[in-house]
Amino acid sequence: MKVQNMKKKLLIITGGGDCPGLNAVIRAICKSAKKHGGWEAYGSIEAFNGIISEPVNIVKLTKSKIKGIHVKGGTILKTTNKGNPLAYPKVQDNGDLVYTDISKELIKKINKLGFDAVINIGGDGSQTISQALFEKGLNIIGVPKTIDNDLSSTDITFGFSTAVQIATDAFDKLVTTAASHNRVMILEVMGRDAGWIALHTAIAGGAELCLIPEVPFNLKSIAKTIRKRYRNGQGFVNIVIAEGAKINDLTIGTNEAGDYHIKLGGIGNALRYELEQLGVEQDIRVTTLGHIQRGGTPIAFDRILATAFGVKAFELVLEENFGTMVNYHNNIVSYTSLKEAVKKYNFVDAKHYLIKTAKAVGISFGI
Ligand code: F6P
Repeated sequence: MKVQNMKKKLLIITGGGDCPGLNAVIRAICKSAKKHGGWEAYGSIEAFNGIISEPVNIVKLTKSKIKGIHVKGGTILKTTNKGNPLAYPKVQDNGDLVYTDISKELIKKINKLGFDAVINIGGDGSQTISQALFEKGLNIIGVPKTIDNDLSSTDITFGFSTAVQIATDAFDKLVTTAASHNRVMILEVMGRDAGWIALHTAIAGGAELCLIPEVPFNLKSIAKTIRKRYRNGQGFVNIVIAEGAKINDLTIGTNEAGDYHIKLGGIGNALRYELEQLGVEQDIRVTTLGHIQRGGTPIAFDRILATAFGVKAFELVLEENFGTMVNYHNNIVSYTSLKEAVKKYNFVDAKHYLIKTAKAVGISFGI
């Protein structure tokens, strides 16, 4: 008699930009599933592309595959921000790039492969995809991830604190060299539309100026703050600027055909140029941190949060509570509907206590 495998099948996906803590979520889901006994976990390589491709690229997440991975940065499942099934890029015979909605075929394939549930670990873009797939009948649960901390339905996402730590370490190093040379140091950090990393780093490091996308700044006012500090004999200035901040209403970055979003970077140098044009005489140097903030090992807090998120996600699978996203609110790991989760973007609010805190300790927003 043939013995049938009666275990249910769970598919894990990591989508969008990577972020420290993704592997800790994967490990926690797999460990919970193993402990439960009734489930087998699989991972789709490179977000949904692993399912879409022919042949499929799916791995069984065995004990040896997930051993010790909570300490590692990145994602063992790989990721992409070029595989949105709602607008999937396909190069036509004439070379044109056309975006098509392949979500129905994708769901059919997931069902045909025998998956009973999907856990999608990703940011706002990925969770918008989760919601659309849920509406079309897929048993899906979201886990929020992003270093930008820009999802409003969770107080914090894993990866954010690691990014802030990396940026703060860099800031601290820049302070000693700025002081030695009496220089103006500009540190450009990530933050596409939200300035959370910049704001936290500025407070943690003790910056003179913090420039974020949510607060339009005035170049003359920045120059004035710099001059005042030198006049007072304090000798050096440290500025933190989010890559998504705008100078004269302009975003600085490059846009190539097929890109999901503009590749930000360069605002620090643009700021230096503008300040020099305004006659700031001090030596201005720029450091762009870039993807260093997304790489490497997650700090303990993020490993713990990611592990708790993974455990909660599997719990939601067992409860068949699909169409939901795990969240962290008021010190509790809970969940919200995906619909609610993607409704609002988490901008830095002018009334946020950290804006008040920053101002109180003398940080200028360049207004
Ligand atoms: O959304 C997270 C983030 O790190 C942003 O801060 C940044 O602008 C973007 O991703 C960079 O994306 P990519 O790795 O695709 O260049």
